[in-house]
Amino acid sequence: MSILVTGGTGYIGSHTCVQLLSAGFDIVLLDNFSNSKPEVIDRIKEIAGRDFTFYQADLLNKKEIVSIFEKNKIDAVIHFAGLKAVGESVSIPINYYHNNITGTLNLCSVMEQFGVYNLVFSSSATVYGTQDQVPLHEDLPLSATNPYGRTKLMIENILNDLYVSNTNWSIALLRYFNPVGAHSSGRLGEDPNGIPNNLVPYITQVAIGKLPELKVYGNNYPTKDGTGVRDYIHVEDLSEGHIKALEKVTITSGINAYNLGTGIGYSVLDMINTFSKASGREIPYKITNRRPGDIGESFADPSKAEKELNWKAKKDLYEMCIDSWRWQVNNPNGYESKVTVV
Ligand code: WQD
Repeated sequence: MSILVTGGTGYIGSHTCVQLLSAGFDIVLLDNFSNSKPEVIDRIKEIAGRDFTFYQADLLNKKEIVSIFEKNKIDAVIHFAGLKAVGESVSIPINYYHNNITGTLNLCSVMEQFGVYNLVFSSSATVYGTQDQVPLHEDLPLSATNPYGRTKLMIENILNDLYVSNTNWSIALLRYFNPVGAHSSGRLGEDPNGIPNNLVPYITQVAIGKLPELKVYGNNYPTKDGTGVRDYIHVEDLSEGHIKALEKVTITSGINAYNLGTGIGYSVLDMINTFSKASGREIPYKITNRRPGDIGESFADPSKAEKELNWKAKKDLYEMCIDSWRWQVNNPNGYESKVTVV
């Protein structure tokens, strides 16, 4: 079976491509390198020990997508490609709406043109907006508090309308909680541009000495130690969830949302302490004001995915930290672009 993976050189996409290849799927990888580097292609081949088809292409160019479908037999699509920085989405909303929404509309239109109706979509727990209850389950009312989150919610609604228009569609909406960690080889990992926005890549850069100290955004939330609580999930567990969702969409039709989380909430201080134990490094930090737009507590009810996808996260917080640390130590500057010595 041949799977088109859009955004396949990104953080979660690359880990999922390795698992797809290892599970015997053939893949066609599409990426425009807007938030990743060509080096990832070689790393995926190195780890999986298999070759695959790759196109540097942009979902905003519909002709490129048509050409890929003309040249390859595609049985299903896993759609990762999209801009994903919450803060950036507030400052450049048009880029986010155009890239994420138009790109998805182009993809789905070409899929329908070629009679390909199996789709796994990279959604996010951000579509739960601010809830006054945890754990979060899939039937809660949805909302978004920033343009990035609104693109995810709009795409979920678009895909629901697509299924209503044509019940041949078979779609899984995967709502990620907080992906962290890295491949155990230390050869794939999270490679944020510039200063990291997210907690774990920031901590790893403090631990390796690239950043002086961590700012803890608030310790006056109604949580166990006052700091923000999140459902951190190892990227390898998250990637396996995509394989399970792919297997389901290829044997059924319909549209379903699934929480991909551990169901366990950990605070910022829990993360700091666990990371210190895993790395042997102290993490200097300072308590500062809350970050605008942050919520105090968020963690998943993962029971629907456990039941319907036969999937459950296995890796604990310590494994998430030790794998993140190995990646950072082995790749102090991420996938630095290859320097051609002349
Ligand atoms: C986690 C906790 C912060 C950085 C975001 C996106 C979400 C999803 C995952 C795509 C919070 C605290 C953080 C720092 C800190 N992305 N923190 N100091 O905000 O839960 O979710 O990433 O799907 O859509 O919004 O993740 O890692 O930024 O924050 O104290 O330097 O760490 O306040 O409590 P977040 P995060």
